[in-house]
Amino acid sequence: MTKKELVQKGVARINWARIKMPVVSAIAEKWKEEKPLKGIRIGACLHVTTETANLVIALKEGGASVSLCASNPLSTQDDVTAALNSAYGIPTYAKRGEDTNTYYQHILNVLDTAPQITMDDGADLVSTIHTQKKELLKEILAGTEETTTGVIRLRSMEKSGALAYPIVAVNDALTKHLFDNRYGTGQSSLDGILRATNYLIAGTNFVVVGYGWCGKGVAAKARGMGANVSVVEVDPLRALEALMDGFQVMNMTDAAAAGDIFLTVTGNKNVIDRKHFKVMKDGAILANSGHFNVEINIEALAQEAVEQKDVKENVVQYQMADGKKLFLLAEGRLINLAAAEGHPAQVMDMSFANQALVSAWLVKNQKKLKKKVYPVPEEIDSLVARLKLESLGIKIESLSPEQVEYLSSWQSGT
Ligand code: ADE
Repeated sequence: MTKKELVQKGVARINWARIKMPVVSAIAEKWKEEKPLKGIRIGACLHVTTETANLVIALKEGGASVSLCASNPLSTQDDVTAALNSAYGIPTYAKRGEDTNTYYQHILNVLDTAPQITMDDGADLVSTIHTQKKELLKEILAGTEETTTGVIRLRSMEKSGALAYPIVAVNDALTKHLFDNRYGTGQSSLDGILRATNYLIAGTNFVVVGYGWCGKGVAAKARGMGANVSVVEVDPLRALEALMDGFQVMNMTDAAAAGDIFLTVTGNKNVIDRKHFKVMKDGAILANSGHFNVEINIEALAQEAVEQKDVKENVVQYQMADGKKLFLLAEGRLINLAAAEGHPAQVMDMSFANQALVSAWLVKNQKKLKKKVYPVPEEIDSLVARLKLESLGIKIESLSPEQVEYLSSWQSGT
């Protein structure tokens, strides 16, 4: 494909996503006049997808100068990079399959713009600033964080007193994790497994490791496709929830022996480990949807294998000494973004409406904020829900004055 064709493909796909991103589009339209981000430099480290493109275009409409790099080496859509650079004038540093050095060089390219707001998905900008680029701190007003893993990293920075500027945890907005983490990860992870394998899900023993919002979404979708779903959890409450949601609950050792397809979504490392590979069935498929490629112990898998080979795009076969074959998808990186196209536009619309509105809120409230991790203001969260419903043409009920009074009184009973 020529560069021109790549740019055209990117523009067409960005427009396609925009059709299902009415909230972000409405914000961009309004911001053409209002310019709430006028003169603000935003550095973003997000998955370079068509949905992210619509976010950064909206930020630019709001008056910001934005630069973007990838938040994962395998999630970049190269046509989107080409389109953002050439058709939208948004400097974008990302290449699908880039090595670790290039990945970090691209982060440094964004940091060279001396951002005043950082927008992270996994906290790599924040951690690079705090470890290698402390001189940038004096210019930085605040930041946002998109994902559960990033929020965990930031809370631990806050707790140890290391966090040097305020960050809003966009992930924790209800209009983010109830939809993006649950329905987005649910659908896009299955999509990634299907695109990588083209195998049937129905009738398989499908093991979901982790029952947070992402795990809940994956388990529900796998069940919907006819799999026998088992859940592995460390948290007793979540394990009970999984049980009462109708799934089998077991420990990793039992699940390892029974599973045909494994998907990790815990945010933790080595949740599928050497001892588990040893008891797995021939032909077991391993995939991850957690942010980092640490959930499956790939090093141990490679050590246990007598032979390793690429069998098709996004599938590596590990042959064990006893002849058994295990298949690792997408190098253990986010299967939904590496083998598919990430979450659908409909849910990213809400996540990225939060990102956009929060960045304007940060500019307005910068002087009041401390070096802490903040929740998304409730009024932004409920505005996003309201705008989403409006865009779908859905009317909801409102309370009558009598009902408002009833809810605020305690005297009336039987
Ligand atoms: N994270 C998961 N899916 C995504 C998408 N489509 N765009 C950006 N970030 C994502």
